[in-house]
Amino acid sequence: MTQPHPVQHCPSATELDDLELLVSGAYAPLTRFNAPDSPVTIDLPAGEDIVELVDPEGLPLARVTAATGEVEALTHAQYGPFRRLHLTPAQVREQHAGATFVPVTDALSDAELDELRGLGRVVLVALNGTGTADLSPVALVRATLAAAELLDDAAVVAVPLPSHGDADADHALGVRVLENYAAGDPVHALAAPGLVTGLRPSSTNEAIAAIVEEDRPAPDEVGLVLFFTGLSGSGKSTLARALMDRLLEQGGRTVTSLDGDVVRRHLSAGLTFSKADRETNIRRIGWVAAEIARHRGVAVCSPIAPFDETRQQVRAMVEAAGGAFFLVHVATPLEECERRDRKGLYAKARAGQIPEFTGISSPYEEPDDAAVRVDTTGRTIEDALDDVIEALHEAGFLDLKKDS
Ligand code: ADX
Repeated sequence: MTQPHPVQHCPSATELDDLELLVSGAYAPLTRFNAPDSPVTIDLPAGEDIVELVDPEGLPLARVTAATGEVEALTHAQYGPFRRLHLTPAQVREQHAGATFVPVTDALSDAELDELRGLGRVVLVALNGTGTADLSPVALVRATLAAAELLDDAAVVAVPLPSHGDADADHALGVRVLENYAAGDPVHALAAPGLVTGLRPSSTNEAIAAIVEEDRPAPDEVGLVLFFTGLSGSGKSTLARALMDRLLEQGGRTVTSLDGDVVRRHLSAGLTFSKADRETNIRRIGWVAAEIARHRGVAVCSPIAPFDETRQQVRAMVEAAGGAFFLVHVATPLEECERRDRKGLYAKARAGQIPEFTGISSPYEEPDDAAVRVDTTGRTIEDALDDVIEALHEAGFLDLKKDS
Protein backbone atom coordinates (compact mmCIF):
# COMPACT_ATOMS: atom_id res chain seq x y z
CA MET A 1 0.00 0.00 0.00
CA THR A 2 1.41 3.42 -0.91
CA GLN A 3 1.51 5.90 1.91
CA PRO A 4 -0.20 9.18 1.06
CA HIS A 5 2.55 11.23 2.74
CA PRO A 6 5.81 9.32 2.77
CA VAL A 7 8.33 10.34 5.35
CA GLN A 8 10.95 12.79 4.06
CA HIS A 9 14.65 12.17 4.38
CA CYS A 10 17.70 14.17 3.31
CA PRO A 11 20.41 11.74 2.18
CA SER A 12 24.14 12.20 2.75
CA ALA A 13 26.25 13.95 0.13
CA THR A 14 27.42 10.59 -1.26
CA GLU A 15 23.87 9.26 -1.43
CA LEU A 16 22.71 12.41 -3.23
CA ASP A 17 25.47 11.93 -5.80
CA ASP A 18 24.45 8.30 -6.25
CA LEU A 19 20.81 9.29 -6.60
CA GLU A 20 21.66 11.68 -9.41
CA LEU A 21 23.64 9.01 -11.26
CA LEU A 22 21.04 6.29 -10.75
CA VAL A 23 18.35 8.57 -12.15
CA SER A 24 20.43 9.94 -15.04
CA GLY A 25 21.28 6.46 -16.30
CA ALA A 26 24.98 6.91 -15.61
CA TYR A 27 25.04 3.69 -13.57
CA ALA A 28 22.94 1.68 -16.06
CA PRO A 29 22.01 -1.13 -15.97
CA LEU A 30 21.99 -0.36 -12.24
CA THR A 31 18.97 1.77 -11.44
CA ARG A 32 18.39 1.14 -7.76
CA PHE A 33 19.97 1.52 -4.34
CA ASN A 34 21.05 -1.39 -2.15
CA ALA A 35 21.28 -4.01 -4.92
CA PRO A 36 23.27 -7.08 -3.78
CA ASP A 37 27.07 -6.53 -3.95
CA SER A 38 26.64 -2.95 -5.14
CA PRO A 39 28.47 -0.07 -3.43
CA VAL A 40 25.55 2.19 -4.29
CA THR A 41 23.73 2.08 -0.99
CA ILE A 42 21.46 4.30 1.05
CA ASP A 43 20.50 4.38 4.72
CA LEU A 44 16.79 4.93 5.04
CA PRO A 45 14.73 5.67 8.15
CA ALA A 46 13.62 2.34 9.62
CA GLY A 47 10.10 1.01 9.34
CA GLU A 48 9.04 2.96 6.24
CA ASP A 49 7.86 1.36 3.00
CA ILE A 50 8.41 4.42 0.86
CA VAL A 51 10.73 7.30 1.64
CA GLU A 52 10.78 10.66 -0.11
CA LEU A 53 14.31 11.89 -0.64
CA VAL A 54 14.71 15.65 -0.41
CA ASP A 55 17.68 17.89 -1.08
CA PRO A 56 19.16 19.92 1.81
CA GLU A 57 16.67 22.69 1.11
CA GLY A 58 13.72 20.31 1.27
CA LEU A 59 12.97 19.96 -2.46
CA PRO A 60 11.59 16.44 -3.09
CA LEU A 61 13.94 14.68 -5.53
CA ALA A 62 12.77 11.08 -5.60
CA ARG A 63 10.84 8.34 -3.86
CA VAL A 64 12.58 5.16 -2.83
CA THR A 65 10.90 1.85 -2.12
CA ALA A 66 12.68 0.59 0.98
CA ALA A 67 12.30 -3.12 0.22
CA THR A 68 13.82 -2.99 -3.27
CA GLY A 69 15.81 0.26 -3.32
CA GLU A 70 13.97 1.25 -6.47
CA VAL A 71 13.91 4.92 -7.26
CA GLU A 72 11.15 7.01 -8.78
CA ALA A 73 12.50 10.40 -9.82
CA LEU A 74 10.39 13.43 -8.98
CA THR A 75 12.64 16.21 -10.19
CA HIS A 76 16.32 16.77 -10.80
CA ALA A 77 18.59 18.46 -8.30
CA GLN A 78 18.67 22.12 -9.18
CA TYR A 79 21.16 23.61 -6.80
CA GLY A 80 24.90 23.78 -6.89
CA PRO A 81 27.54 25.41 -9.04
CA PHE A 82 28.01 24.18 -12.61
CA ARG A 83 24.62 22.46 -12.59
CA ARG A 84 24.43 23.17 -16.35
CA LEU A 85 27.39 20.84 -16.90
CA HIS A 86 25.69 17.93 -15.12
CA LEU A 87 24.41 16.24 -18.28
CA THR A 88 22.90 12.79 -18.51
CA PRO A 89 24.54 10.17 -20.76
CA ALA A 90 21.66 10.64 -23.22
CA GLN A 91 22.25 14.40 -23.41
CA VAL A 92 25.97 13.89 -23.87
CA ARG A 93 25.39 11.42 -26.68
CA GLU A 94 23.24 14.00 -28.44
CA GLN A 95 25.82 16.75 -28.11
CA HIS A 96 29.14 14.98 -28.26
CA ALA A 97 28.87 11.76 -30.23
CA GLY A 98 32.16 10.86 -31.91
CA ALA A 99 34.44 12.51 -29.34
CA THR A 100 37.00 10.82 -27.09
CA PHE A 101 35.94 10.68 -23.44
CA VAL A 102 38.52 11.39 -20.75
CA PRO A 103 37.88 10.90 -17.03
CA VAL A 104 39.41 13.71 -14.98
CA THR A 105 39.92 13.60 -11.21
CA ASP A 106 42.50 16.32 -10.68
CA ALA A 107 43.86 19.49 -12.23
CA LEU A 108 45.46 18.42 -15.51
CA SER A 109 49.23 18.68 -15.71
CA ASP A 110 51.19 20.02 -18.68
CA ALA A 111 52.08 16.46 -19.74
CA GLU A 112 48.46 15.38 -19.62
CA LEU A 113 47.39 18.35 -21.70
CA ASP A 114 50.01 17.36 -24.28
CA GLU A 115 48.68 13.82 -24.21
CA LEU A 116 45.18 15.14 -24.90
CA ARG A 117 46.30 17.33 -27.78
CA GLY A 118 46.83 14.24 -29.91
CA LEU A 119 43.28 12.98 -29.46
CA GLY A 120 41.19 15.40 -31.50
CA ARG A 121 37.79 16.28 -30.08
CA VAL A 122 37.60 15.38 -26.41
CA VAL A 123 34.99 15.48 -23.68
CA LEU A 124 36.63 15.99 -20.29
CA VAL A 125 34.47 14.15 -17.78
CA ALA A 126 35.14 15.83 -14.43
CA LEU A 127 34.38 13.19 -11.78
CA ASN A 128 33.46 15.64 -9.06
CA GLY A 129 31.48 13.46 -6.67
CA THR A 130 31.98 13.49 -2.93
CA GLY A 131 35.44 12.26 -1.97
CA THR A 132 36.60 11.23 -5.46
CA ALA A 133 39.02 14.06 -6.21
CA ASP A 134 41.51 15.74 -3.93
CA LEU A 135 40.22 19.06 -5.17
CA SER A 136 36.79 20.20 -4.04
CA PRO A 137 33.99 19.36 -6.52
CA VAL A 138 33.69 22.95 -7.68
CA ALA A 139 37.45 23.52 -8.01
CA LEU A 140 37.80 20.33 -10.06
CA VAL A 141 35.28 21.64 -12.58
CA ARG A 142 36.89 25.10 -12.60
CA ALA A 143 40.33 23.58 -13.21
CA THR A 144 38.93 21.31 -15.93
CA LEU A 145 37.24 24.24 -17.67
CA ALA A 146 40.53 26.15 -17.53
CA ALA A 147 42.27 23.11 -19.05
CA ALA A 148 39.67 22.86 -21.81
CA GLU A 149 40.50 26.44 -22.78
CA LEU A 150 44.03 25.29 -23.54
CA LEU A 151 42.87 22.59 -25.93
CA ASP A 152 41.58 23.11 -29.44
CA ASP A 153 38.33 21.23 -29.17
CA ALA A 154 37.30 20.16 -25.69
CA ALA A 155 34.01 20.16 -23.81
CA VAL A 156 33.53 19.61 -20.09
CA VAL A 157 30.87 17.48 -18.45
CA ALA A 158 30.54 17.14 -14.66
CA VAL A 159 29.61 13.72 -13.32
CA PRO A 160 29.30 13.51 -9.53
CA LEU A 161 30.69 10.00 -9.18
CA PRO A 162 31.29 9.71 -5.43
CA SER A 163 33.76 7.56 -3.58
CA HIS A 164 32.24 4.67 -1.62
CA GLY A 165 35.43 3.84 0.23
CA ASP A 166 36.12 0.65 -1.76
CA ALA A 167 38.76 1.33 -4.40
CA ASP A 168 38.02 -1.73 -6.56
CA ALA A 169 34.26 -1.28 -6.54
CA ASP A 170 34.66 2.42 -7.24
CA HIS A 171 37.00 1.77 -10.12
CA ALA A 172 34.58 -0.72 -11.69
CA LEU A 173 31.73 1.74 -11.25
CA GLY A 174 33.81 4.54 -12.78
CA VAL A 175 34.60 2.40 -15.82
CA ARG A 176 30.93 1.67 -16.27
CA VAL A 177 29.95 5.34 -15.94
CA LEU A 178 32.49 6.33 -18.59
CA GLU A 179 31.24 3.59 -20.90
CA ASN A 180 27.72 4.86 -20.50
CA TYR A 181 28.76 8.40 -21.37
CA ALA A 182 30.96 7.34 -24.25
CA ALA A 183 28.36 4.90 -25.64
CA GLY A 184 30.83 3.16 -27.91
CA ASP A 185 33.13 6.13 -28.52
CA PRO A 186 36.68 5.78 -27.20
CA VAL A 187 37.48 6.31 -23.52
CA HIS A 188 40.99 7.54 -22.89
CA ALA A 189 42.47 7.00 -19.42
CA LEU A 190 45.29 9.46 -18.80
CA ALA A 191 48.72 7.92 -18.41
CA ALA A 192 49.26 9.45 -14.96
CA PRO A 193 46.05 8.63 -13.12
CA GLY A 194 44.72 11.67 -11.35
CA LEU A 195 43.98 9.77 -8.18
CA VAL A 196 47.67 9.48 -7.33
CA THR A 197 47.84 13.04 -6.12
CA GLY A 198 50.90 14.28 -4.38
CA LEU A 199 53.06 12.47 -6.92
CA ARG A 200 51.61 14.47 -9.75
CA PRO A 201 53.46 17.23 -11.46
CA SER A 202 51.51 20.43 -11.12
CA SER A 203 50.41 22.54 -14.00
CA THR A 204 52.56 25.47 -15.01
CA ASN A 205 49.51 27.14 -16.46
CA GLU A 206 48.76 30.16 -14.29
CA ALA A 207 44.99 29.86 -14.39
CA ILE A 208 45.02 26.18 -13.37
CA ALA A 209 47.70 26.68 -10.72
CA ALA A 210 45.73 29.56 -9.19
CA ILE A 211 42.58 27.43 -8.93
CA VAL A 212 44.50 24.62 -7.23
CA GLU A 213 46.23 27.00 -4.85
CA GLU A 214 42.99 28.68 -3.89
CA ASP A 215 41.42 25.29 -3.20
CA ARG A 216 44.30 23.89 -1.15
CA PRO A 217 45.23 26.44 1.46
CA ALA A 218 48.59 26.17 3.20
CA PRO A 219 48.33 24.49 6.62
CA ASP A 220 48.51 27.84 8.41
CA GLU A 221 45.63 29.17 6.30
CA VAL A 222 43.24 26.26 6.70
CA GLY A 223 40.01 27.06 8.55
CA LEU A 224 40.50 25.85 12.08
CA VAL A 225 38.17 24.83 14.87
CA LEU A 226 39.84 24.72 18.26
CA PHE A 227 37.41 22.80 20.42
CA PHE A 228 37.99 22.75 24.18
CA THR A 229 35.95 20.11 26.01
CA GLY A 230 35.91 19.42 29.73
CA LEU A 231 33.96 19.70 32.96
CA SER A 232 32.50 22.94 34.24
CA GLY A 233 35.29 24.72 36.09
CA SER A 234 38.04 22.73 34.35
CA GLY A 235 39.54 25.91 32.93
CA LYS A 236 38.46 25.48 29.32
CA SER A 237 36.92 28.94 28.95
CA THR A 238 39.96 30.57 30.53
CA LEU A 239 42.36 28.61 28.33
CA ALA A 240 40.28 29.30 25.23
CA ARG A 241 40.14 33.01 26.08
CA ALA A 242 43.91 33.15 26.60
CA LEU A 243 44.55 31.37 23.31
CA MET A 244 42.21 33.73 21.53
CA ASP A 245 43.97 36.75 22.99
CA ARG A 246 47.27 35.34 21.81
CA LEU A 247 45.88 34.85 18.32
CA LEU A 248 44.51 38.39 18.23
CA GLU A 249 47.77 39.82 19.49
CA GLN A 250 49.67 38.05 16.75
CA GLY A 251 47.18 39.08 14.03
CA GLY A 252 46.69 37.56 10.60
CA ARG A 253 43.62 35.45 11.38
CA THR A 254 39.98 36.22 12.08
CA VAL A 255 38.85 34.64 15.33
CA THR A 256 35.39 33.90 16.72
CA SER A 257 34.70 32.65 20.22
CA LEU A 258 31.91 30.14 20.81
CA ASP A 259 32.02 29.73 24.56
CA GLY A 260 29.48 27.39 26.20
CA ASP A 261 28.03 29.90 28.65
CA VAL A 262 28.00 32.71 26.07
CA VAL A 263 26.37 30.56 23.37
CA ARG A 264 23.63 29.59 25.80
CA ARG A 265 22.73 33.26 26.18
CA HIS A 266 22.29 33.75 22.41
CA LEU A 267 22.40 30.95 19.83
CA SER A 268 21.14 28.33 22.29
CA ALA A 269 18.98 30.49 24.56
CA GLY A 270 16.13 28.42 25.99
CA LEU A 271 17.86 25.04 25.79
CA THR A 272 18.04 22.93 28.96
CA PHE A 273 20.75 20.54 30.11
CA SER A 274 18.91 17.39 29.07
CA LYS A 275 20.91 15.04 26.85
CA ALA A 276 18.87 16.01 23.78
CA ASP A 277 19.26 19.75 24.40
CA ARG A 278 22.98 19.45 25.07
CA GLU A 279 23.34 17.62 21.75
CA THR A 280 21.38 20.34 19.99
CA ASN A 281 23.57 22.97 21.65
CA ILE A 282 26.79 21.30 20.49
CA ARG A 283 25.49 20.69 16.98
CA ARG A 284 24.61 24.38 16.72
CA ILE A 285 28.08 25.33 17.84
CA GLY A 286 29.47 22.82 15.32
CA TRP A 287 27.38 24.21 12.51
CA VAL A 288 28.57 27.77 13.11
CA ALA A 289 32.16 26.63 13.64
CA ALA A 290 32.08 24.71 10.35
CA GLU A 291 30.91 27.81 8.51
CA ILE A 292 33.70 29.83 10.10
CA ALA A 293 36.16 27.15 8.99
CA ARG A 294 34.72 27.18 5.48
CA HIS A 295 35.71 30.83 5.32
CA ARG A 296 39.17 29.96 6.64
CA GLY A 297 38.67 31.64 9.97
CA VAL A 298 39.45 30.31 13.42
CA ALA A 299 36.61 29.28 15.75
CA VAL A 300 37.50 28.78 19.39
CA CYS A 301 34.77 26.69 21.05
CA SER A 302 34.57 25.98 24.77
CA PRO A 303 31.42 24.11 25.77
CA ILE A 304 31.41 21.09 28.09
CA ALA A 305 30.34 18.91 25.13
CA PRO A 306 30.06 15.78 27.29
CA PHE A 307 29.04 13.30 24.58
CA ASP A 308 31.54 11.63 22.27
CA GLU A 309 29.07 11.09 19.45
CA THR A 310 28.16 14.78 19.27
CA ARG A 311 31.81 15.82 19.29
CA GLN A 312 32.38 13.39 16.40
CA GLN A 313 29.52 15.01 14.51
CA VAL A 314 31.14 18.42 14.96
CA ARG A 315 34.44 17.02 13.69
CA ALA A 316 32.67 15.62 10.62
CA MET A 317 30.88 18.90 9.93
CA VAL A 318 34.10 20.88 10.17
CA GLU A 319 36.03 18.48 7.97
CA ALA A 320 33.25 18.44 5.38
CA ALA A 321 33.63 22.22 5.25
CA GLY A 322 37.34 21.81 4.48
CA GLY A 323 38.42 22.84 7.96
CA ALA A 324 40.66 21.22 10.54
CA PHE A 325 39.26 20.12 13.87
CA PHE A 326 41.60 20.32 16.83
CA LEU A 327 40.23 18.81 20.02
CA VAL A 328 41.66 19.91 23.35
CA HIS A 329 40.61 17.86 26.36
CA VAL A 330 40.83 20.06 29.43
CA ALA A 331 41.16 17.09 31.74
CA THR A 332 41.16 18.78 35.12
CA PRO A 333 39.68 16.12 37.44
CA LEU A 334 36.24 16.51 38.96
CA GLU A 335 37.65 16.86 42.52
CA GLU A 336 39.68 19.89 41.45
CA CYS A 337 36.77 21.48 39.52
CA GLU A 338 34.57 20.95 42.54
CA ARG A 339 37.20 22.32 44.91
CA ARG A 340 37.41 25.49 42.80
CA ASP A 341 33.64 25.77 42.36
CA ARG A 342 33.99 29.34 41.14
CA LYS A 343 30.32 29.69 40.28
CA GLY A 344 29.05 27.76 43.31
CA LEU A 345 27.29 25.33 40.96
CA TYR A 346 28.85 22.12 42.28
CA ALA A 347 27.62 22.88 45.79
CA LYS A 348 24.14 23.45 44.43
CA ALA A 349 24.32 20.29 42.32
CA ARG A 350 25.40 18.25 45.35
CA ALA A 351 22.52 19.74 47.27
CA GLY A 352 20.19 18.52 44.53
CA GLN A 353 19.30 22.05 43.44
CA ILE A 354 20.63 21.64 39.88
CA PRO A 355 19.51 18.46 38.13
CA GLU A 356 21.62 16.71 35.49
CA PHE A 357 24.83 18.45 36.46
CA THR A 358 27.82 17.22 34.46
CA GLY A 359 30.13 15.08 36.56
CA ILE A 360 27.62 14.82 39.42
CA SER A 361 24.32 13.66 38.00
CA SER A 362 24.99 13.68 34.27
CA PRO A 363 27.83 11.87 32.48
CA TYR A 364 30.98 13.25 30.90
CA GLU A 365 32.45 10.92 28.25
CA GLU A 366 36.21 11.44 28.12
CA PRO A 367 37.49 11.85 24.56
CA ASP A 368 40.02 9.40 23.19
CA ASP A 369 40.58 11.43 20.05
CA ALA A 370 41.90 14.65 21.59
CA ALA A 371 44.94 16.23 19.92
CA VAL A 372 46.12 17.30 23.35
CA ARG A 373 45.09 16.71 26.95
CA VAL A 374 45.69 19.38 29.55
CA ASP A 375 45.14 19.12 33.28
CA THR A 376 45.20 22.60 34.76
CA THR A 377 45.59 21.40 38.37
CA GLY A 378 48.39 23.33 40.05
CA ARG A 379 49.43 25.09 36.86
CA THR A 380 49.17 28.64 35.67
CA ILE A 381 47.06 29.33 32.63
CA GLU A 382 50.12 30.45 30.69
CA ASP A 383 51.85 27.20 31.48
CA ALA A 384 48.87 25.07 30.45
CA LEU A 385 48.39 27.17 27.34
CA ASP A 386 51.94 26.39 26.27
CA ASP A 387 50.96 22.70 25.96
CA VAL A 388 48.18 23.63 23.59
CA ILE A 389 50.38 25.94 21.55
CA GLU A 390 53.06 23.26 21.33
CA ALA A 391 50.52 20.70 20.08
CA LEU A 392 49.14 23.16 17.55
CA HIS A 393 52.62 23.82 16.33
CA GLU A 394 53.35 20.11 15.97
CA ALA A 395 50.15 19.60 14.01
CA GLY A 396 51.25 22.35 11.64
CA PHE A 397 48.57 24.87 12.60
CA LEU A 398 49.04 28.41 13.89
CA ASP A 399 52.62 29.13 14.58
CA LEU A 400 52.03 30.95 17.86
CA LYS A 401 54.90 31.98 20.03
CA LYS A 402 55.06 30.53 23.52
CA ASP A 403 55.10 32.96 26.40
CA SER A 404 58.54 32.02 27.71
S1 ADX B 1 26.92 21.50 27.30
O1 ADX B 1 26.79 20.26 28.10
O2 ADX B 1 25.69 21.80 26.55
O3 ADX B 1 28.12 21.47 26.46
P1 ADX B 1 27.56 24.18 28.05
O4 ADX B 1 29.02 24.27 27.90
O5 ADX B 1 26.72 24.76 26.98
O6 ADX B 1 27.12 22.66 28.38
O7 ADX B 1 27.11 24.91 29.38
C1 ADX B 1 27.80 24.60 30.56
C2 ADX B 1 27.70 25.75 31.55
O8 ADX B 1 26.36 25.91 31.98
C3 ADX B 1 28.51 25.45 32.77
O9 ADX B 1 29.77 26.08 32.71
C4 ADX B 1 27.69 26.00 33.90
O10 ADX B 1 28.07 27.35 34.15
C5 ADX B 1 26.28 26.04 33.39
N1 ADX B 1 25.36 24.98 33.86
C6 ADX B 1 24.12 25.18 34.33
N2 ADX B 1 23.50 24.03 34.59
C7 ADX B 1 24.35 23.03 34.25
C8 ADX B 1 24.27 21.60 34.29
N3 ADX B 1 23.18 20.98 34.70
N4 ADX B 1 25.35 20.89 33.86
C9 ADX B 1 26.45 21.52 33.44
N5 ADX B 1 26.59 22.87 33.40
C10 ADX B 1 25.55 23.64 33.79
